[in-house]
Amino acid sequence: MTEITSLKDGLIADIARADTLDAVEALRVGALGKSGVVTALLKTLGAMTPEERQTKGPAIHDLRESVTAAIAARKAALETAALDARLAAERIDMTLPADPQPQGSIHPVSQVMDELAEIFADLGFSVATGPEIEDDWRNFTALNIPETHPARAMHDTFYFGENDRAVGGDGNPAAMLLRTHTSPVQIRTMMAAPPPIRIIAPGRVYRSDSDATHTPMFHQIEGLVIDRGIHLGHLKWTLETFLKAFFERDDIVLRLRPSYFPFTEPSVEVDVGYSVENGQRVIGGSGDAENGGWMEVLGSGMVHPAVIRNCGLDPDEWQGFAFGTGVDRLAMLKYGMNDLRAFFDGDLRWLRHYGFSALDVPTLSGGVGA
Ligand code: DAH
Repeated sequence: MTEITSLKDGLIADIARADTLDAVEALRVGALGKSGVVTALLKTLGAMTPEERQTKGPAIHDLRESVTAAIAARKAALETAALDARLAAERIDMTLPADPQPQGSIHPVSQVMDELAEIFADLGFSVATGPEIEDDWRNFTALNIPETHPARAMHDTFYFGENDRAVGGDGNPAAMLLRTHTSPVQIRTMMAAPPPIRIIAPGRVYRSDSDATHTPMFHQIEGLVIDRGIHLGHLKWTLETFLKAFFERDDIVLRLRPSYFPFTEPSVEVDVGYSVENGQRVIGGSGDAENGGWMEVLGSGMVHPAVIRNCGLDPDEWQGFAFGTGVDRLAMLKYGMNDLRAFFDGDLRWLRHYGFSALDVPTLSGGVGA
């Protein structure tokens, strides 16, 4: 009898210690299977005397029932634990956003164009556009760059073929080209509606040129103001206000340098002072040679009377100023990128690093470069 009791205690202890369903199953087979220890004991009942069976029978049956119950209980406990673990591991939080990874970004060129539009909108400028396939009258002739003018050669123009000639802005047949600058938008704007005019024209331009700082396609922004009594002071104030807003610094110092553009008279190149901070050139500061210097950022001038006349306006009544600069270069200066070619590689790693969130729309109140 004590053998049966100790067998029972031993089996029940083993079952309680079994920590996998396989281990429980192995114990079940060992105890209750065809050749299990409990099964073997049950088989001995048949050969017993009635008296013996009277005393041992209940103990053997109790053994079988206890072991069966212990196995069932252990199995159920292990199954519940396994289910709990699976539920914890596979839980889905339905309240989380479908995909928390932000996808896509605003290219620095688009960001800077948006910033420029925002800054100039505040000064009363609207955005004008023109086609990228332009005629040579609007791209050159009307801008006071006649056929033999050396500036035409300087522009490394992509021309379309002789068979692609079309009617130019003056009504005569004209060679077609990929515009070499945004200045033809000046012509289109002056010919489209009477002054006063205050526009900026951002867009793509093309020149046959390629190295670390030149790509065959790049971006410019043009500015044009035409009204009565406009003078160089208006130009200087406008550019100073624009550059302070764009670089988000008040210590922007301008230097106007006499220069030459066929479509402006006088022409000025605009430099801004930079300082050296942590070994990096940063726009802002006095242009002092000890701590920095001057960097050219814009071409500008008073619109040449010949250009105003070419657009059908009387230069004795209307004057204005114009300016133009590279958007890509502005982006590089503001956001510290040094290879222009990366702008157009479409490399996602570069875009993730230098791109802007689509939700960060530039505003003057929130910061145009936020
Ligand atoms: N169109 C010139 C260029 O591509 C830039 C420029 C200079 C534009 C002076 C202007 C200006 O409007 O007044 O190099």
